[in-house]
Amino acid sequence: MAEKIIEVKGLRTSFFTDEGEIPAVDHVNFYIKEGEILGVVGESGCGKSVTSLSIMGLVPSPPGKIVDGEIVFNGENIAKFSEKKMRQIRGNDIAMIFQEPMTSLNPLLTIGNQMIEGIKIHMKWDKKKSRARAIEVMKRVGLPRAEELMDEYPHQLSGGMRQRVMIAMAMACNPKLLIADEPTTALDVTIQSQILKLMKKLNAELNTAIMLITHDLGVVAQICERVVVMYAGKIVEEGAVSSIFKNPKHPYTKGLLKSVPDIRNKNERLYSIPGNVPRPGSIKNGCRFAERCEFAFDRCFSDTPELYEVDDKGHRVRCFLQSKEEESNHDTAFTSSS
Ligand SMILES: Nc1ncnc2c1ncn2[C@@H]1O[C@H](COP(=O)(O)OP(=O)(O)OP(=O)(O)O)[C@@H](O)[C@H]1O
Ligand code: SF4
Ligand SMILES: [Mg+2]
Repeated sequence: MAEKIIEVKGLRTSFFTDEGEIPAVDHVNFYIKEGEILGVVGESGCGKSVTSLSIMGLVPSPPGKIVDGEIVFNGENIAKFSEKKMRQIRGNDIAMIFQEPMTSLNPLLTIGNQMIEGIKIHMKWDKKKSRARAIEVMKRVGLPRAEELMDEYPHQLSGGMRQRVMIAMAMACNPKLLIADEPTTALDVTIQSQILKLMKKLNAELNTAIMLITHDLGVVAQICERVVVMYAGKIVEEGAVSSIFKNPKHPYTKGLLKSVPDIRNKNERLYSIPGNVPRPGSIKNGCRFAERCEFAFDRCFSDTPELYEVDDKGHRVRCFLQSKEEESNHDTAFTSSS
């Protein structure tokens, strides 16, 4: 059995603004095993990026702060690490790629300079060895003319090539965990699929665990083994991808699944869940999805659901319809639609 490479326990990350505390990530628990690909999904504003920034020690502070919880990586609680210690972890043990590679690449430096610099610092190698490694990883991620690309500037590359460069940079130091925050959102569908295949290939070859953040369950279906679904700062459903796709339990997950484009039905208008994600902290009591939920009943507006077990294989859901007591309170027509 693979060990857990990272375990996030009771994580709470808030922003302190003029309007008060905004609990962007609210008691979040999850883990990723060595070599596993975990998907993290949810609509805009659900707390996906703040979760990943918390892991990386990159929450903008002020106004942000990890208020509570642990992030156990390699047996140590890195949530308590100093910036100096976190700098050693970033890039070395945990690497991150973002939606828009241009924000992470320096437009004034050649690709080669940026890659060599990164490798030199993290691996403590000389320039020659770092350059050889840079070319090796660029070839590995399928970049054509790797040697020539070393002398080119980021704007000379296509979006897909830039994302490959970012992946090459991330993988150059053999990280144990790669956090990819919407890595394919800015790319067209064909390139998106190539980048996902590339991440899967690197995961298989190098056994790097991947936390893949996306708003698209279609992306999760392509490469993830397990998925956590976030809503308004909390995990509302988690489990094996096969289990969640076959048997989604949370009304929110069902809505997300309905919004996955169906390639057989290109002209069909895409479903989107009515309403909006509530502002973090605006709902004090009750289920945060209640305002948008077609199954909501009285209790949903007064009590807060916990995560209930769906099976003994780790499928869990934060919805009263899955709690045994409510199941017996409602008739079968009600629960069978869940
Ligand atoms: N710098 C900040 N100051 C105040 N609030 C913030 C800040 N950054 C994020 N938030 C709040 O934290 C919540 C979660 O944001 P986050 O960026 O994690 O969402 P997300 O799930 O990544 O969304 P998206 O899909 O749009 O990237 C949002 O409601 C946002 O308003
Ligand atoms: S707890 Fe109630 S409001 Fe929340 S998802 Fe379940 S049925 Fe809907
Ligand atoms: Mg985000």
